[in-house]
Amino acid sequence: MSSFNVHEIRKDFVTLSQVVNGRPLVYFDNAATTHKPSAVLEQVRLYNEKMHANPNRGAHTLGVLATQAYEDAREKVRAFINAKEAQEVIFTKNATEALNLIAYSYGMSQIEVGDEIVICISEHHSNILPWQQVAQAKKATLKYLYLTPDYRLDMTEVEAKITEKTKLVSIAQMSNVLGTIYPVKEIAEYAHKVGAVIVVDAAQSVPHLTVDVQELDADFLVFSGHKMLAPMGIGVLYGKRNLLEKMPPFLTGGDMIEYVEEQSATFAELPNKFEAGTPNVEGAVGLAAAIDYLTAIGLEIVHQHELELTAYALEKLKEIPYIKVYGPDNVKQRGGVISFSVANCHPHDVASIVDTYGVALRAGHHCAQPLMKYLQVPATSRISFYLYNTLEEIDVFIESIKSVRKWLGYGS
Ligand code: ALA
Repeated sequence: MSSFNVHEIRKDFVTLSQVVNGRPLVYFDNAATTHKPSAVLEQVRLYNEKMHANPNRGAHTLGVLATQAYEDAREKVRAFINAKEAQEVIFTKNATEALNLIAYSYGMSQIEVGDEIVICISEHHSNILPWQQVAQAKKATLKYLYLTPDYRLDMTEVEAKITEKTKLVSIAQMSNVLGTIYPVKEIAEYAHKVGAVIVVDAAQSVPHLTVDVQELDADFLVFSGHKMLAPMGIGVLYGKRNLLEKMPPFLTGGDMIEYVEEQSATFAELPNKFEAGTPNVEGAVGLAAAIDYLTAIGLEIVHQHELELTAYALEKLKEIPYIKVYGPDNVKQRGGVISFSVANCHPHDVASIVDTYGVALRAGHHCAQPLMKYLQVPATSRISFYLYNTLEEIDVFIESIKSVRKWLGYGS
């Protein structure tokens, strides 16, 4: 970590120097969305000032530049996740749209009566609801992988739930609530052994870990730009070419066709087949700039920094008797997301009180209601880190959290 200086990094993020409620902002809501470095804002501005046009259409100079910028971004994403070809990278609005694309196109065409779809109890709603829709429409069964008492996934559970009937397994690589990092490579092996495909929801992992789709042998993998320093409204679906080619289009309209007759149409080659309508070029440009920024630092270094923050925060939280943490103790099994409860205090009260200290955290069910039910809690408070957070910010957060019960009238 010799070349990594978090105080230097913070200078790239104007947003982080804000004062909130009279205190310096402590932004610990990175699992929800992240802030943008000036390099990303600058590239988006340059694109808009010098290249903006509708890509893939007119042959005029700006149209060519916009097309080039968009396709360069696709290539950048390809290299970042080590896909074999750029045509296996489809731009979407976000990870949710990418999961819906897989469910409605692959799921609705390939899943049949009696088939089984396997997901984990800690999934985000985006990785539950599309599969509920497929299961209901196709009379298939949606099965859940449940967790160990220390919030991990035991391979005996995986082995028991993935059977000859399984046609699709969809799992987050890292839980947005527990921080648990799941062994998706091993799960992919089980899925492939029975002839099922595996979908990896990498919304919480791609921004923080090196993810290699070929190494994981993921059939599909999705993520969002805004959780990795890029603008909102741009996401990625990676899919193996042989699977994407046999899938019908998800959305239809302009730009995804080869030829249109009055009553029928033929569709464009990959990736255009899945990109109907005017795309989000400035989002793609911003995502490419974010990839450049993260790559220049090195995701390994980002991950190490977050592990240091996570270990420190866990240690400090453990010293407070009325706090319960939901997630693995062992930092090697988790990322920088920590969910917790403060005894007898509602998470929304917790969030409002720490906000007076300038601390931004998320409170609620985190779009994971089945997990909340499984954990037997209505909601949790959650802090989540990124490369620009510091140990000093954790000290401020701990000071704020220690005040919560006093504010609410408890002795300590
Ligand atoms: N999925 C985002 C989160 O967990 C919104 O906060």
